[in-house]
Amino acid sequence: MTTEGLVRPDGPAKLTGAARYAADVPAESALAAALVSATVPNGRLAELDAAEARDCPGVAAVLTRADLPTLAELPSPPLGYPALPLQAEEIHYEGEPIAIVLAETLEQAQYAASRVRATYTGVREPIAFGEAEDVVPHSGHVLGGTDEEKGDAGAGLAEAHVTVTATYTTADRHHSPIEPSATLAWWEGEQLVLHSSVQSVAVAQQTMAALFSLPPEHVRVVCPFTGGGFGAKGYVWPHLPLAAAAAKVSGRPVRLVMTRAQMFTLSGHQPATRQTVSLGATRDGRLTALRHDSVNASGRAVDYLENTTHSSTWLYASPAIETRMRVQRVDRPGPTPMRAPHEGPGMFALESAMDELAYELGIDPVELRLRNEPDVDPMTGLPFSSRRLVECLREGAERFGWAERSPEPRSMREGNDLVGWGVAAATMDTFRAPSSAKVRIGADGRIVVETGMQEIGTGLPAMVQAVVAETLGCDPGDVEVRHGDSGFPPHAGTMGSMSAMGLGSAVQAAAREVLDKLDGRPGQPLAGLLAESGLTELEAEGRWSPEEDALAAGRSARYSMHTYGAIFAEVRVDADLGVVRLSRAVTRYAAGRILNPLAAHSQLTGGFAWGYGQALLEHSDVDPVLGRFVSKNLAGYLLPANADLPDLDAAFVEDDDRFANPLGAKGIGELGAVGVAAAIANAVFHATGRRVRNLPIRLADVLSEP
Ligand code: MOS
Repeated sequence: MTTEGLVRPDGPAKLTGAARYAADVPAESALAAALVSATVPNGRLAELDAAEARDCPGVAAVLTRADLPTLAELPSPPLGYPALPLQAEEIHYEGEPIAIVLAETLEQAQYAASRVRATYTGVREPIAFGEAEDVVPHSGHVLGGTDEEKGDAGAGLAEAHVTVTATYTTADRHHSPIEPSATLAWWEGEQLVLHSSVQSVAVAQQTMAALFSLPPEHVRVVCPFTGGGFGAKGYVWPHLPLAAAAAKVSGRPVRLVMTRAQMFTLSGHQPATRQTVSLGATRDGRLTALRHDSVNASGRAVDYLENTTHSSTWLYASPAIETRMRVQRVDRPGPTPMRAPHEGPGMFALESAMDELAYELGIDPVELRLRNEPDVDPMTGLPFSSRRLVECLREGAERFGWAERSPEPRSMREGNDLVGWGVAAATMDTFRAPSSAKVRIGADGRIVVETGMQEIGTGLPAMVQAVVAETLGCDPGDVEVRHGDSGFPPHAGTMGSMSAMGLGSAVQAAAREVLDKLDGRPGQPLAGLLAESGLTELEAEGRWSPEEDALAAGRSARYSMHTYGAIFAEVRVDADLGVVRLSRAVTRYAAGRILNPLAAHSQLTGGFAWGYGQALLEHSDVDPVLGRFVSKNLAGYLLPANADLPDLDAAFVEDDDRFANPLGAKGIGELGAVGVAAAIANAVFHATGRRVRNLPIRLADVLSEP
């Protein structure tokens, strides 16, 4: 496959501003919407005084609960938060919309929104994470359930020569895509048209149809481009139903764009977790038991589960494995998946604990992982569809120069810098979902592909071009890709790192069908084949879905199906100031066949930046009195910049997983964000002798005495 250096056909449109995002779409007579948000974390709305706002210049309407239609009730997912705003007097979280102002301009709407007065009743002190009861969440969509068990972990720990038990925490974090969520909505009679920034056109269409009790074909969702999502646009958040309801009530198109502050309350976040890992091992470093208990913060009316323990069921061989997942219902906006959900926070705990065990045993941390490489899935006994973790560890170690490491903490000083080397494994579940796509050949030999999926920055059009080019033996430039419209064949969405394998497999099926119908072979000129068949145009719809006995998206009934990686990090810690700088890193990944090396490399380096942020910068603190996120902007929320990330050597090892799908590809969008925080924390321990178990790592953690 000749995709080395494949460039993005969507690049010029994005660079010149020609690419149209949801808020850019022109609509005659559209009203601008601004939301009035609750300033309390619970209680009820007592009174809402909108008189002054209604008199403000340019205001067309101030809509309150009484003005809006009653919407059908749906769970989360598909809703981000199961209780939609403006459907009850109850306040579910700080920032929940309590009124919508519609005006001729955005500035007029925002000013008028600031003049709405609200009073509340029954407001009580917010319940914070760590103060609530642990509850067993609804486990309907939880892979393997909330608790998994094999063997006797208690006995395994009792008979171990060495044990390690430690508690780790990860912080609340926010997605902050560049493009805030936005919806432009209008009605054409009973038909609803939505231009919206989403991660799944199909999910938005189905969910909005259900909320408004419409047949799905009466809802059209258009979203060719999404300016980043990372999970914040995966489920249906309030901007969609509120824009649609406001358009219905006002009889005019309504454009609702989230402010940056609203992105901190109305599109989810990655919830804080507290995890305890116990490992038992023999003196020669073989695990006798692995226990992983975890609890995450959720909203008061939503049991979002950050499934951190899941990866502990397949990563290492152990005769006994016990995992347990709980949530706490607390007073704050609702969480949602965020790149990388589950394994991202979970692998910080497991891979930190493995590092602690390596020091206890006096065994090199790479070697410890190699000694616990399983032959089959340790929990289910299923074979691995493909697993190249050992290759990732070996190649990464070689490239990094790991053999030169001096094992003692604080033993690699350079001037005033304490130098530390750390390693961690990475793994992600392989989510899979049905997908479809259309391939059409014209008389001039041009090829058009249509997919409902949107381009979110991952390079979807280039990937589709590559698959068509490989299947038909044509030039990638001959393929035009039309994307992001519910009128095109549906796909589950850009979530769970499953876009390329699903869409790619559907495109491959459609292209093969075209070739079959023409009785052609790859590389034959399509225009000629078409003419020979007496046709002016030929179209085929390709479908792909996981094998019929797949239990659920994310778990095959026949194979243990995952992606893997190894992260090697070097940090330099200022001995006086405690400042941690990453000086270099080597990462190696196994994620099936790589369809577009250039875009795939970008995904993995971008993912690494997310892991770096998790390790050293990102935390959304909650005000314990007001029950609100303190910093609802990017000035108060630290993110990594390019200068934080020097010399990153990211690459793939050979892998090809034909059990996952016909392309042999697996997910890469989230894998890169896994394991990085543990590798950095482990490097900080090696540099300083200080074990930091709470993310992000702060100066005070590093400076305190070991
Ligand atoms: Mo991803 S967190 O499934 O967008």
